[in-house]
Amino acid sequence: MVAIEASILSADFARLGEQAREAEAAGVDGIQVDVMDGCFVPDITFGPGVVQALRPLVSVTLDVDLMIVEPERHLAAFVDAGADRLIVHWEACTHHHRVLRRVRDLGIDVGLAVSPGTSLSALEELLDLVDLIQVMTVNPGWGGQAFIHSQLDKIRRLRHMLDERGLDAPIAVDGGIDTTTAPLVLSAGATVLVAGSSIYNERASVVENVAALRASVKRG
Ligand code: DX5
Repeated sequence: MVAIEASILSADFARLGEQAREAEAAGVDGIQVDVMDGCFVPDITFGPGVVQALRPLVSVTLDVDLMIVEPERHLAAFVDAGADRLIVHWEACTHHHRVLRRVRDLGIDVGLAVSPGTSLSALEELLDLVDLIQVMTVNPGWGGQAFIHSQLDKIRRLRHMLDERGLDAPIAVDGGIDTTTAPLVLSAGATVLVAGSSIYNERASVVENVAALRASVKRG
């Protein structure tokens, strides 16, 4: 099963709710909300208030990608706002084990994201604490960046690590996912595809873009 999530970082901020609903109507499996703090990454985007506003508008997975330092300070607020899953970035955490356990203790799924420059060995002690691992296929911080092809081998090795340990956590990929790169990450072992600029753009409607992405993974 391949899940497609629309990253609203590329959506029209003046129509976020509408754009989230458009993606849901187009058949995505989730909406990813990219929370940026101006510290871990340069931009500043959304807070719990946006998640709270979107929650009643969509029933698909609300995936909150916390590109923030000290995420432990904000976990409960995003859970209370209605997030279905919180993704923390390995590079933004000091006490990884504690933060991951804390999200689960708050009653929702937890994901761990790893940036292109970070080795998989950093995750070894943490793999059984997470419900999803997100391999960043761009350096976090902006939409519309080029896909980093070296991450394909990382996805393969991660899938192997998980399988060897009998862990069925899915691998998500985020950054530069489009109709060309989607089949590549699929064959490498990823099953959750986060896409922003290939869904929200001037070239075609959200419905057409999601259909094209879906077709590209069907072709495989
Ligand atoms: C980047 C964000 C991504 C981004 C993806 O830091 O985490 O979710 O929005 O956008 P595209 O698909 O345009 O690379």
